[in-house]
Amino acid sequence: MICMYLDPADEAILAGEQGETRQKMLEILVALGKVFGAERLVPIKSAQVSGASYKTIGEHGLAWLASLDARAVVPAVLNPIGMPRGRWQEMGVDPAFAEKQQAVIAAYERLGVRLDCTCTPYYLYQTGYGDHLAWSESSAVSYVNSVIGARTNREGGPGALAAALVGKTPCYGLHLAQNRHPKIVIDVNTGTREWSIAHYGALGYHAGKLVGNRIPYFRGIAPDKDRLKALGAAMAATGAVALYHVEGVTPDAKRYRYDCTGLETITVEASDIERLFVEIPVDAVAVGCPHCSSAELATIARLLSGKTVKKPMYVFAAQGVIDANLTVVQAIELSGARVYADTCMVVSPVMEQYSAIMVNSGKALAYVPDMCGAVARIGTIEECVAVATS
Ligand code: F3S
Repeated sequence: MICMYLDPADEAILAGEQGETRQKMLEILVALGKVFGAERLVPIKSAQVSGASYKTIGEHGLAWLASLDARAVVPAVLNPIGMPRGRWQEMGVDPAFAEKQQAVIAAYERLGVRLDCTCTPYYLYQTGYGDHLAWSESSAVSYVNSVIGARTNREGGPGALAAALVGKTPCYGLHLAQNRHPKIVIDVNTGTREWSIAHYGALGYHAGKLVGNRIPYFRGIAPDKDRLKALGAAMAATGAVALYHVEGVTPDAKRYRYDCTGLETITVEASDIERLFVEIPVDAVAVGCPHCSSAELATIARLLSGKTVKKPMYVFAAQGVIDANLTVVQAIELSGARVYADTCMVVSPVMEQYSAIMVNSGKALAYVPDMCGAVARIGTIEECVAVATS
């Protein structure tokens, strides 16, 4: 077994000199490091902590959080919770659930975790190339590794929280450059139609099933950041992809110009993606998985301009992004659609009232059936707005 190097400060924490909670948290990190062969801990710039919705952690998770007594020593952001903190009554959240969710939030706040409650903290906090992080939400992990070039493994909620409270994480896996090389090539033939964000989500949905946990190297596509976000989120949902590269687009692919000679190569045709766009009746529309960027909010506002929604339409974004786009958000809500922070179509129990939900996200396409008990349909944002307003 590899022996992990711990510096004197780590040893002091392990000896209990900074309290029982921090001692336990470092024990978790050391145990993880030993399992995965880490030789040392690495200081992190930030943590992103999943296990935030009472819907997913339940009473047991709440009791564990309430038992901890320490504060985060690096910026730590919470994942989406089961309701918008300021508008849960309007969204129709059960007061009994809201009370439990408030208790979860209070427990994290006591631990010094910021209550941004988003899967897109990279819109709110500066994250740079080469930064070591301990993030846990799979789409956020994929984005920062692939699109920004930061370094994080896909942490479990307790591992990310432990890293936040200690300020370090075991240095293994995607923290090491030699483990970030592509393992499979995906040649994409997009055909003649320009691909929307939803098409990239569908590509991720399809590709994730093919690659499993291998690091894919895409050729033949040139997505912008919102499309990359959709691609990575979906691949992390149907596969276990925490990092991918796109030739000539993503930072590691540009920097290292990986030699993919000899790697298994698969081809994805436009028809493989188009067949996922199945027209079925739905009773609600939900977009913002992952949470919307400013550009996505602007597109939704433009498409809804002068229209009224006839079906419930939910838009999800980080509170900080909403605050930076208040005029746009007001324009969206003028249509009757609702823009909610802190939560999403997958982690909010409110979405369980619907039998079929239309989304523009490959990740939501994968998760809505199991997490909401509803049939999921994917369409472009134009198609989502058309369905919501007709
Ligand atoms: Fe974010 Fe919820 Fe989708 S956490 S990635 S909006 S499932």
